[in-house]
Amino acid sequence: MDAKMMQKGLYYCFMLLLIMMMNLCVASRRLNMEFQNLEVKKQLSKLNKTPLKSIKSPDGDIIDCVHMSRQPAFDHPLLKNHTIQVRPTYHPEGLNFGAAEVSNLKDDTKPVQLWQLNGRCPEGTIPIKRTKEEDLLRASSIERFGKKNHRSFPQPRSAAPDLITQTGHQHAIAYVEGGNYYGAKATINVWEPQIQQPNEFSLSQIWLLAGSFNSDLNSIEAGWQVSPDLYGDNNTRLFTYWTSDAYQATGCYNLLCSGFIQINNEIALGASISPLSAYHGSQYDISILVWKDPKEGNWWMQFGNNYVLGYWPAFLFSYLVDSASMVEWGGEVVNLESDGLHTTTQMGSGHFPEERFAGASYFKNIQVVDGTNNLRPPSDLGIYTEQSNCYDLQLGNDGDWGNYFYYGGPGRNSNCP
Ligand SMILES: *[C@@H]1O[C@H](CO)[C@@H](O)[C@H](O)[C@H]1NC(C)=O
Ligand SMILES: *[C@@H]1O[C@H](CO)[C@@H](O)[C@H](O)[C@H]1NC(C)=O
Repeated sequence: MDAKMMQKGLYYCFMLLLIMMMNLCVASRRLNMEFQNLEVKKQLSKLNKTPLKSIKSPDGDIIDCVHMSRQPAFDHPLLKNHTIQVRPTYHPEGLNFGAAEVSNLKDDTKPVQLWQLNGRCPEGTIPIKRTKEEDLLRASSIERFGKKNHRSFPQPRSAAPDLITQTGHQHAIAYVEGGNYYGAKATINVWEPQIQQPNEFSLSQIWLLAGSFNSDLNSIEAGWQVSPDLYGDNNTRLFTYWTSDAYQATGCYNLLCSGFIQINNEIALGASISPLSAYHGSQYDISILVWKDPKEGNWWMQFGNNYVLGYWPAFLFSYLVDSASMVEWGGEVVNLESDGLHTTTQMGSGHFPEERFAGASYFKNIQVVDGTNNLRPPSDLGIYTEQSNCYDLQLGNDGDWGNYFYYGGPGRNSNCP
């Protein structure tokens, strides 16, 4: 064999190797995609239970009416033998709330949900917003879909509230701490704040918190949110959240994991709220009440005056098995500063508290459930904002509105560059 032939042989060997490696790459990428497809399908079949009936909402959502005993909660190993509580044994506004439901005409001026225009779920079923393939593909990872991102927990500062501050998250909140709280209530003005980019969000909610604000934080949350990444649009949606380990492994939004047990067939978690408030126009609000059943220990949630939605079983939690040690009311936005400037994502109406009714968003009739299981106005409301030039809050108190505040803002402006 002469040198030239050997060179040629080597060259062919090398080319062959290159081609084999390229093929391997393509094959492994295809395998990866197939694996992802499989994961998506697996996750979808876990989240979407076989419905008795499906309703197409005008906003593009599909609402599945799923038999109450087949809801995602019952995938939880500890709930295998759980007997569904069809009503709480206690209600802080009196247990005749069921009778009020019948005698009170439903208030037409209160916002409801868009999908209700196109149908109702039968008794014994609950409406569940169907998760679509594209919803999963928008998530940072399929496993994290429906969960908040991991947060860092600075030690509580002595003067400021023990607020979870994550870089990029901004709040304008009122809070109480230092007591034992067995529930909270507020009526929340509903708006559609603008979001600068899809992986930011804007929400207005109640937080019930317990634990040390490290990795063991327990939280129950409910309110409205605009979150393009989670929902694929800019609609204002009713939501809940829970965690028992500071947003790490446990908990999720709405019914996107096992936890919350829904009993109501009229309201879907994660569905769009309608109508919304207009700047210097009609104003709409929703009331949310969360309270602990003193007998069973479960945490119940009511939407409006008529809808007892369901409950978080006590065993999901560690500290909240007893009571909450802090309650917060207000807004939160994500500020990614993607163009090096403060985000233009709005909080509330996108206007500052000074503009007051029909200009700024509000929380009114803020109350807590105390140790005697009664609703009462909170004493010593504190307020907290990271950058009041971007988003602010102003407390007030009067006869009709009880404890209230206006909150929110536009984000980026000349005082918030
Ligand atoms: C559920 O009930 C079965 C039969 O009674 C029992 O074997 C099982 O341990 C129970 N599971 C739980 C989580 O309580
Ligand atoms: C949501 O709003 C932003 C602007 O605020 C817009 O750019 C985007 O297209 C909207 N997304 C959808 C799905 O409508």
